[in-house]
Amino acid sequence: MAPPKYARKMKVFTRIGPLRAFLDEQKFSGKSIGLVPTMGALHSGHTSLVQASRANGDFTVCSLFVNPAQFNDPADLAKYPRDLAADERLLSSAGCQALFAPDVAEMYRQSSQTRFDFGQLDKVLEGKFRPGHFSGVALVVSKLFNIFHPHRAYFGHKDYQQFKIISMINQDLNFDIELHCLPTIREPDGLAMSSRNVRLNPDERQHASSLFRNLTSAREALLKGMSWQAVREKAEKNLQSSGMIRLEYLELADKDTLQTDKLDNLGNGILLIAAIVGAVRLIDNLPIK
Ligand code: PAJ
Repeated sequence: MAPPKYARKMKVFTRIGPLRAFLDEQKFSGKSIGLVPTMGALHSGHTSLVQASRANGDFTVCSLFVNPAQFNDPADLAKYPRDLAADERLLSSAGCQALFAPDVAEMYRQSSQTRFDFGQLDKVLEGKFRPGHFSGVALVVSKLFNIFHPHRAYFGHKDYQQFKIISMINQDLNFDIELHCLPTIREPDGLAMSSRNVRLNPDERQHASSLFRNLTSAREALLKGMSWQAVREKAEKNLQSSGMIRLEYLELADKDTLQTDKLDNLGNGILLIAAIVGAVRLIDNLPIK
């Protein structure tokens, strides 16, 4: 069924003060606030979160901020795609009712020294390959939670480890926000939608879909009883055969702890992958059940 069309009357804020005053009015009139944090370069993965928030009846607000603190590679930050006008149009027609798009000076009034420690949760997968990344994510998400004080916040399953990190701070810091993790939206050939996909050339774009294809066949093979070691070897060989894909990791982890060394029950597993296609780093994941 086609999503509902919304009237385009989204408010746009660049400053925290006026945004807070506006949100207070909405809360005072009895509305629940649903927050969708983003870094822009938006696609249907992002709008699916906006639609979920609207479907829950929330007054739906988005943030759009390319957060320097979570980029461990300055070149990646510089190359991050930005198109505010297009993003505003997309959000507005998806049903977003207010957008907060601050600049770096508004979000980081002084250089911040706060760092997070997530124990074992960020010693693996993305945390291992992108040191400091999740501390930067946690910092900006904490700021956003404190700025908006939303009732609910919506995130994508595509960044599964990020969702676990945010769930941890939500609990440990008593934000007590109702968090929702929504399914990964994919292109017709299975490639997970990502802001970074626009940087793939046509040849790379074609090869990029093999990430999801290999996750799917790895899951099937595991469910048929093949050992993880054999499954992994086969997938790694497949992925690297074209010479276009440089694999960073392919892991089978426990979906609660994300630890890769102990999985008692295959049904509780999740496959996670990160690979560099051309010059673009892509991630994806697939739960076993
Ligand atoms: P960004 O990459 O813009 O993603 C914003 C939200 O959209 C995240 O919750 C992400 O998981 C979700 N998302 C991205 N691609 C998706 C897809 N194909 N299907 C479903 N959801 C998808 O993630 C971030 O920004 C930042 O780290 C942020 C949380 C905003 C903090 O800066």
